[in-house]
Formats: sequence, C-alpha cells, structure tokens
Amino acid sequence: MTSKLPELINKPLIIGSKKIENRLILAPMTYLGHVAFRELLDESGSRNLMFSEMCSAGRLPHENRRTSGYFKWRDQETRRLIIQIVGSDPDRMALAAQRIETEGFFGVDINLGCSAKGICRHQQGAALLKSPQIAVEIVRKVRRAVQCPVTVKFRTGWQDDSQFPVSLAVRLQDAGADALTFHPRVAPDRRARHPKWEYIGLVKQAVRIPVFGNGNVFDEHDCLKMMESTDCDGVALGRIAIARPWVFTQWGSDDPSPDDLHRRTAMRLLTLTEKHFDPLKGLRRYKRYASYLAANFAFGNSLFNKIRIAADYEQIEAILTAFFDTNPAVLKRPNMHFMR
Ligand SMILES: Cc1cc2nc3c(=O)[nH]c(=O)nc-3n(C[C@H](O)[C@H](O)[C@H](O)COP(=O)(O)O)c2cc1C
Repeated sequence: MTSKLPELINKPLIIGSKKIENRLILAPMTYLGHVAFRELLDESGSRNLMFSEMCSAGRLPHENRRTSGYFKWRDQETRRLIIQIVGSDPDRMALAAQRIETEGFFGVDINLGCSAKGICRHQQGAALLKSPQIAVEIVRKVRRAVQCPVTVKFRTGWQDDSQFPVSLAVRLQDAGADALTFHPRVAPDRRARHPKWEYIGLVKQAVRIPVFGNGNVFDEHDCLKMMESTDCDGVALGRIAIARPWVFTQWGSDDPSPDDLHRRTAMRLLTLTEKHFDPLKGLRRYKRYASYLAANFAFGNSLFNKIRIAADYEQIEAILTAFFDTNPAVLKRPNMHFMR
C-alpha cells in the first residue's frame, strides 16, 4: 500500500450543494459502467461517486428506465450516481438535466470528451471543443435548469495546446460548473499516447471548483503520483476500475485481497449482467468487459478469444470455470493490449 494515498483519498469533498466522502470516482464508460457493473461495485462495499454511461440528451426526457440500455439504474445507487449526457443543443441538454434532477440523482455531467465518429458527426462530445461558445452555453443553460451539481468531463482539445483547456475550464466554471473531470489527451488520440498529466495541474491552478484528474491511472502509485504532481482534488478511474473493480475499497487500505477475487468478480458480474439485461444487450456488454478481465492474466488472450465467440451465458460460465481452474498467473499491472 502507498502510505500517503489514504489521507489524500479518504477525505470529503464538496461538489456544488453536495458532499462526497472519498476522492476516487468511477469515470463514465459506455458499455462498461452499466447498472450490473455498478451493483457489483456496491456489493464490494464501494460507496464512491459513479458516473453513468453516456446518455443521449435528446432521448433522455422520455427514456424508460426499464427498457433503456443506458439510462438504467437501481434505486439504491441514485444518490451516488451522476448521469452523463451528450448532445449539442443547450435547451435539450437543459431538459435532460431536469429529468435527471427529478429522478434524484447526485448530479448531471456534460460530455465534452467523446471523440467517437458517430458522436462528433452530430457536433456532440469532443466536437464541442471546436465550438467552445456552444459548450459554455450548454453549461449555462443546464446550470439555470437545475439545483443539483453540474459537472463537465472534457479533454485537451483537438490540438496539443495547454492554454486551451485552461481557458475553457475557467469559462466552464464561470458558466456554473461545480466540478470538472479532465482527461488530458487531444481528441484525435483516443487512448494511445500517455496523457499529459501536467495539464491537469495547470487546469487545477486556474479554477476554484474541484478538478478530478483522469487518464492512465492503473495502480496506487500512479494515483498518488497524479494527485501529488497535479494537486487535483480527486481521480476518476476508468479502465482499471473495470479490470479490478475492488480498487475503490482496496486502494488506501491495508486489507489483503483474497486470492480468488478475479474469479468471484467475473462470475458475479455474469450473474448480474444476466439479471439486468436481455441476452442480446447483456452478452454484448459482458464481452466488452471480458477484454478488461483478460488484461489481468499472462495468457489472457485465450480467455478473451473464447468469451468473444461464446453463444450464451452458460458457455461463458463454462469458459470461466475452465480458465480459473488452471490457476492462471495474475499480472502485476494489466496488459495494455486489452485495455484499449
Ligand atoms: C470503453 C470505454 C468507453 C468510454 N465511454 C465514455 C463515455 O461514455 N463518456 C466519457 O466521458 N468517457 C468515456 N470513456 C473515457 C473514460 O471515461 C476515460 O476518460 C478514459 O478511459 C481514460 O481513463 P483511464 O485511463 O482511467 O481508463 C470511455 C472509455 C472507454 C475505455
């Protein structure tokens, strides 16, 4: 355990009108940070703040939580969940935010980071970093529409220029954002190059609101290094939280992890995925997760390749059982090949 980490992460933080007890949060991840995965986190004892998968602001006001793939939650998690919305029309974003507030969620997050072609084509997500005045207007309108915390997740921009995110952060704050999650990579670079953590420090220095650093934190040492070198208020954990969901309860604690944690986690998530999703949606999600599970093992590719082509939950269960019965060697740091 990294001795200084507990005192940095186990302390409350005010976000707008609300308070969180711990500085590690679950980053938003489409197809990965879903309701079944979050139930798994709950069962592991985590009470940390979580971001939902990205939800379309246009659909959200009328979305039915029982049939929706993304806007789906358990009542027990409502108060610790921030719903992330993606869109480009400030009025529609404000309407979506009102639904989020009415449902009693912790807050609403605005996506200014997704660089997927299907999103950017509609001038949403990271495309808004090319039109910062619209991004700022969205925050202003959402701020006026709700009382709950309004947060923004954003990237460096489309060019590697440290001044852009710094000045944008100030404008987002002035428009009413209560906290920022900053992933210091340019939009065209999905996750290939190392994020420029020093930009997180520059953003943090420029604003008064909390800043969560994000990007390539894979163990406690990374986490401590990011917090100490940037002075960020907290860290949003993405892929490592999927590969090793116990990070929220283990980092900063002296408790040893039981040997069979990987096996129990993989099996339990399978059950929870089946519980929350129809087979089509559920298998799709579990297969995405399988890549991050496989990243933990020296010979993870054989596991991943089998799960990828499995026809149903029973087959996956049999594949997991056979794999874990071989007592596979666990890697100290996950294999990046599977963490894309
Ligand atoms: C499969 C996947 C889906 C993601 N979906 C979203 C998303 O819906 N919204 C968002 O803001 N970021 C999304 N991200 C980006 C993550 O929140 C995070 O910024 C990125 O993974 C870097 O953090 P990490 O190195 O801790 O994983 C996604 C990342 C991955 C790997």
